[in-house]
Amino acid sequence: MYRISELAAAVGLSRTALLYYEKQQLISGKRLENGYRLYSDKDLQRVRLIQQLQAGGLTLKECKVCLEKKIDRDLLKNRLRQLDEDIALKQQSRALLAAMLGEGDLRAWHEDLEKVAPDAHLNWLVKQGFSEKEALRLKWLSKDMNDHETYMNDFMKVYETLERWGPGSEKDTLKALSLVPEASADILEIGCGKGLSTRVLMENTEASITAIDNEPSALARLKERFEKQDISGRLSSVCVSMTELPFEIESFGLIWSEGSAYIMGVQKALTQWKPILRPGGFMVVSDLVWLTDNPDQEAMAHWQQDYPDMQTISTRLKQMNAAGYNVVDHFSLSRESWDNYCEPLKKRIHDLSPVMPDSLALKNIETELEIYRKFLGQFGYQMFVLAACRT
Ligand SMILES: C[S@@+](CC[C@H](N)C(=O)[O-])C[C@H]1O[C@@H](n2cnc3c(N)ncnc32)[C@H](O)[C@@H]1O
Repeated sequence: MYRISELAAAVGLSRTALLYYEKQQLISGKRLENGYRLYSDKDLQRVRLIQQLQAGGLTLKECKVCLEKKIDRDLLKNRLRQLDEDIALKQQSRALLAAMLGEGDLRAWHEDLEKVAPDAHLNWLVKQGFSEKEALRLKWLSKDMNDHETYMNDFMKVYETLERWGPGSEKDTLKALSLVPEASADILEIGCGKGLSTRVLMENTEASITAIDNEPSALARLKERFEKQDISGRLSSVCVSMTELPFEIESFGLIWSEGSAYIMGVQKALTQWKPILRPGGFMVVSDLVWLTDNPDQEAMAHWQQDYPDMQTISTRLKQMNAAGYNVVDHFSLSRESWDNYCEPLKKRIHDLSPVMPDSLALKNIETELEIYRKFLGQFGYQMFVLAACRT
């Protein structure tokens, strides 16, 4: 016979635990006249059996049921299913930690984080040592901090020879320009790329134009484009981030941003850029939007990952009003604008695929082209012409 402290030592449990077992009638000590309890070998073995069942993931209550009756198979199946779920979660945790240590793919994790906490995601990437430029590229393009450099090298290889880095055409830029109610003496173009829209603005206005982008190679091409033209000091380019524009408040009468506001988030861009517009100034901004309320599942899944903040036109219009703009007009970019972008890109992918067969960047660009081919029309680029409300 064992006293409770002896039984506790034998099974490696506390006295309190055994008293709880007693209360649950899992063991039943014999009470002596002096108030002490004595336990038999049968109790000891019963506790050990309970411990074995607990090792299978059963709760104490379930152990009791198992001890008293024939095994309840449904109960065990249920427990097994829960264990499988727990293991799957633990495996996910393990994979995440391993990926963070550079032993696996982090794309899905970055994508999920981007959906639920985009600002925290960006700040965290900067804390990991990425410059703001690279952190933004990681967020939008490579989506894996371990493979970021290789991915971006491949990505830039594709785009380096392409003039357009987004859908657009001279006609659509001119159409937007014609919808701006007043001419401006100074225009700021944000995310100008290699300067195709800049050229349209230069040739069709008399404004001084400041073109900014954070990619030096794009600005170098922009400068080259204007080398042979007499631009009489009307154009200046600045390599700077759209998130930290180095301009005084109320510096420009018109801000122009084709296919770039999404990079910092359209709503944030609308608010952060507004102070550098003169009161009553204008903004032209284009953005990828849903053109239907019922997009195809495949298109939706793709953009959920690649542009989680993609909105319908009516949502964007509301956001623009809320940010202090009147919407002068808006229209969808033409098929020609898409072809101007997609056709050279397709050719480039075709040429590079044999030399870069394993490139993830290439594969992702191909996937995106396929989404355009199949579903363009369910979504599209919308050009918005806005007038900043006077405050
Ligand atoms: C999709 S491209 C559009 C380029 C051009 N507006 C066009 O329509 O061809 C986006 C442009 O934004 C630039 N960009 C990306 N992040 C930026 C940032 N943080 N600040 C300024 N420009 C940025 C890219 O280098 C690129 O030129």
